[in-house]
Amino acid sequence: WVLMKTAQTPTNIAVIKYWGKRDETLILPVNDSISVTLDPAHLCTTTTVAVSPAFQQDRMWLNGKEISLSGGRYQNCLREIRKRAREVEDKEKGIKIEKKDWEKLHLHIASYNNFPTAAGLASSAAGFACLVFALAKLMNVEEDESQLSAIARQGSGSACRSLFGGFVKWIMGKEEDGSDSLAVQLVDEKHWDDLFIVIAVVSSRQKETSSTSGMRESVETSLLLQHRAKEVVPKRTIQMEEAIKSRDFASFAKLTCADSNQFHAVCLDTSPPIFYMNDTSHRIISHVEKWNRSEGSPQVAYTFDAGPNAVLIARNRKAAAQLLQRLLFSFPPKSDTDLDSYIIGDKTI
Ligand code: DP6
Repeated sequence: WVLMKTAQTPTNIAVIKYWGKRDETLILPVNDSISVTLDPAHLCTTTTVAVSPAFQQDRMWLNGKEISLSGGRYQNCLREIRKRAREVEDKEKGIKIEKKDWEKLHLHIASYNNFPTAAGLASSAAGFACLVFALAKLMNVEEDESQLSAIARQGSGSACRSLFGGFVKWIMGKEEDGSDSLAVQLVDEKHWDDLFIVIAVVSSRQKETSSTSGMRESVETSLLLQHRAKEVVPKRTIQMEEAIKSRDFASFAKLTCADSNQFHAVCLDTSPPIFYMNDTSHRIISHVEKWNRSEGSPQVAYTFDAGPNAVLIARNRKAAAQLLQRLLFSFPPKSDTDLDSYIIGDKTI
């Protein structure tokens, strides 16, 4: 027999960035972060997990290619979820798995991203969140989403924020064992549903410096990171929470852009400096800044993760339509600029 479960998890985009760990193994951050979860229809991971007495070992396939599960991050997630596995019974199939059986049974895992892996589009976030959620369903784990987020966090920090929709806060926590470093939902996806997200895929190539090694180098060498974590982010998260709760787009946009720019300033302050944005990214920033200024109040916020792609958050559908028109005019896809495509709604142009 084979027992299977499938889950689908969207990616999330941080508006207050996580950058820097205080514990590399448990993945504990140096500051709180806040993100918005994208619509699951667009950028998501779909993961099927299966268990069978016929399986000889744990195996995993990512986008159809087998990958190694020997890395600590996968092992930590699998171990933590197995610890919480409970009895499962499928009367129709005549299957009964007792709690103690889970230690001996092996898993096969197949995961697909509907967007480029490791291009700075937070694929690891959706990936580990989906893996943990699918396994929790298969193994009848009773922990709630926040408790599961603390397990997903051990796969990839940003993954802990993908277990909820809407706006989500990853509370850094104080405990050494990481037990209080978990995600909570600030507001659900209906709270601010006129926001519209457009992703300008400046390049779908794999990024040169992974987030993991980039943030390690920043922690070791950047003084700006220390200042950011201690002085800037604590105040900014409070302001951001207020902006989100009151749907104050002007404050939201100001804080989002400032935080993205400071994160990239930290990268520049790292030795050797890390460049995630390229000329096209910089031109997009200038374009949005100029447009926002000419309108008198912000229409669009921009934020960039560990890659050159722009995530643009428009205040409403009308602003998104104008934004897209402007972008298509100034940055036509697949032209001599290195802009690949746009992802808007469920269409890629
Ligand atoms: C720039 O979660 O990919 O996207 O915890 O080492 O797996 P690891 O890093 P990861 O870092 C994400 C960094 C970021 C900002 C963010 O999502 O908050």
